[in-house]
Amino acid sequence: MLYSVLLILPALVAAAPGVKLETIRDIDWELELLGTRTPLERRARSEKSIDAIFKSLGKQYFGTAADRNLLNNAQNSEIIKADFGQITPENSGKWQTIEATQNNFNFNDLDFLVNWAQTNGKLVRGHTTVWHSQLPNWVDQINNKATLTSVIQNHVTKEIGRYAGKILQWDVVNEMFDESGGLRSSVFSRLLGEDFVRIAFEAARKADPAAKLYINDYNTVEKGASYKKTTGMATYVKKWIAAGIPIDGIGAQAHLVAGEAGNVAPSLRLLCAAAPECALTEVDIVQASANDYVNTIKACVDIANCVGVTVWGVRDPDSWRAASNPLLFNSGYSTKPAYGALVQTLGAMTATYKPTTTTVQSTAIVPTSTYVAPTTVIQVPSSATSVASTSVPIIACKS
Ligand code: XIL
Repeated sequence: MLYSVLLILPALVAAAPGVKLETIRDIDWELELLGTRTPLERRARSEKSIDAIFKSLGKQYFGTAADRNLLNNAQNSEIIKADFGQITPENSGKWQTIEATQNNFNFNDLDFLVNWAQTNGKLVRGHTTVWHSQLPNWVDQINNKATLTSVIQNHVTKEIGRYAGKILQWDVVNEMFDESGGLRSSVFSRLLGEDFVRIAFEAARKADPAAKLYINDYNTVEKGASYKKTTGMATYVKKWIAAGIPIDGIGAQAHLVAGEAGNVAPSLRLLCAAAPECALTEVDIVQASANDYVNTIKACVDIANCVGVTVWGVRDPDSWRAASNPLLFNSGYSTKPAYGALVQTLGAMTATYKPTTTTVQSTAIVPTSTYVAPTTVIQVPSSATSVASTSVPIIACKS
């Protein structure tokens, strides 16, 4: 019986999309009786994948963060396979991991993650090349402009170049703004002023012309659209794009505390209007209230050029903010109320979204997606040197 059910399952799913869910449930019920389903398999099959819902709302992915240890954890990786469409390396792409000593590169863990993603059909966001934190001392101690320039170029070229064609987006520059919207003091800004942005992005574009290049920061959607860091980031990025620096996207990390979610939509709209595309890149929310999650994630759904959301981990105990239980899965690998609320709210939206245009992405790594009928179209500047400007989705969501 089990054998014959397994044999006919693909045919049933392909032949009758309209009755797909019912059919799968019936078959699941039989497999349950046979006792072959683990609790996780039951959950994954009974509750829809948030990534699948996100894609049917015209987005490219709903992702999460991980590294080798969490991908080797069977329960964690089963959840990623079932519910997420993209992985971001939580630590294995950072300067201190990749080039702890000068010109001595260690790609072991990042190679593992990229291979795992390819094997399992997941996209990757590269994170991150130029960042003042998790930066080895030898870089911090550089005191000469020319040396720092070539050190940035070498690091960016080797790291991004190694994975050319395999990474959807790269956080080329991370957390470079201070809370007043100016340049954060770092070895990069002290020696090179804002020119380190041009140096890093130009090297990145050369190293992987297909990757979407992002500038990423925190406290940019938490405090509202008039918060200085938010307006400062938008102003700088518009200026840099106009000057020909190849920035494709703005990433908003979105590490929220409870109650900040109402600020996300207006702030994100401002940021997304300043670049060809944008994304929420590291979402976690203290205590993970269902409302806060829905408001935060829906902000991206409602903005035409917001291409995806990444949640910063799967399960609370593995979070960098573990004490505040900020993620979508609990210590038992079960979904929390916020996951169900997202599935319900965003799932319901899929019924009213009507695709009008089909945008075929220009690189093999980006899945072809169907986008949503515009009611308002957000005008975005096109990156002067972007090789992929033809694939920028000019779409919008129903209000
Ligand atoms: C965090 C990781 O989650 C931790 O494991 C690590 O100890 C510190 O960094 N902004 C970022 C991320 O861009 O890289 C950070 O990740 C969280 C804040």
